[in-house]
Amino acid sequence: MPIALITGASRGLGRAAAHALAQRGWSLIADARRADDLAGAMRGLADVVTVPGDVTDPGHRAALAAAVGRAGGLDLLVNNASRLGPSPQPLLRDYPLDELGRVYDTNVIAPLALIQLLTAPLAAAAAGMIVNVSSDAAVEAYPGWGGYGSAKAALDQLTAVLAAEEPSLRCYAFDPGDMRTDMHQQAFPGEDISDRPEPESVVPAFVRLVTERLPSGRYRAAHLLPAAR
Ligand SMILES: NC(=O)c1ccc[n+]([C@@H]2O[C@H](COP(=O)([O-])OP(=O)(O)OC[C@H]3O[C@@H](n4cnc5c(N)ncnc54)[C@H](OP(=O)(O)O)[C@@H]3O)[C@@H](O)[C@H]2O)c1
Repeated sequence: MPIALITGASRGLGRAAAHALAQRGWSLIADARRADDLAGAMRGLADVVTVPGDVTDPGHRAALAAAVGRAGGLDLLVNNASRLGPSPQPLLRDYPLDELGRVYDTNVIAPLALIQLLTAPLAAAAAGMIVNVSSDAAVEAYPGWGGYGSAKAALDQLTAVLAAEEPSLRCYAFDPGDMRTDMHQQAFPGEDISDRPEPESVVPAFVRLVTERLPSGRYRAAHLLPAAR
């Protein structure tokens, strides 16, 4: 049974991806900061270990690595947990630098720290994979998105270099596109986002990415599987 570690699994894309993997027979290690939400989101799934905590906390990351050790290996790491930053999002000239540090800690440093802890078991797997969840804000210059977007751009480049350094692994930056989630509502405070697709609509593209062993690279859900949107 393949094993996946997915961060931010209590709602949104992380929850949808975790359910999709579990339904396909994957064993899961899942995190989110709020333990009750995480337990509720994973209820009913067959083979899930929940490890509540904050990905920016080195102690929590060590607990995740220990859970991987107890599981006996790792086939897939999904760095999905993310921090938007201030809401509404400020222009770069006004961006509070302490919050920018927290955005980078969550969206760049924590994913790399987990990769560093877990490269050995991933490399030992028959088909180890890393999915770093990106955003169109990494490649488009939307006013107000300079903090979050530049962090996702750093995550994209980190993914590309990792792919060159670790040819035995598949390393993906996955851009899901707009989804009707808490983070999206936070990005558009007070706006009606009911026209955005549910995160479940992205799942077929995510499943294709992790089941077909496509070449390492950056993938947009909409291009990966147009029928998914
Ligand atoms: N929604 C969109 O339109 C959109 C578009 C492009 C890209 N994305 C990307 O898609 C991914 C999923 O976003 P989403 O919209 O599904 O977000 P979401 O609905 O807000 O869910 C975020 C998840 O991450 C967890 N989380 C947040 N910070 C965490 C931390 N520091 N440590 C551990 N867990 C943490 C949250 O639980 P707790 O709060 O309990 O920790 C929750 O489970 C993110 O990488 C995001 O950047 C989203």
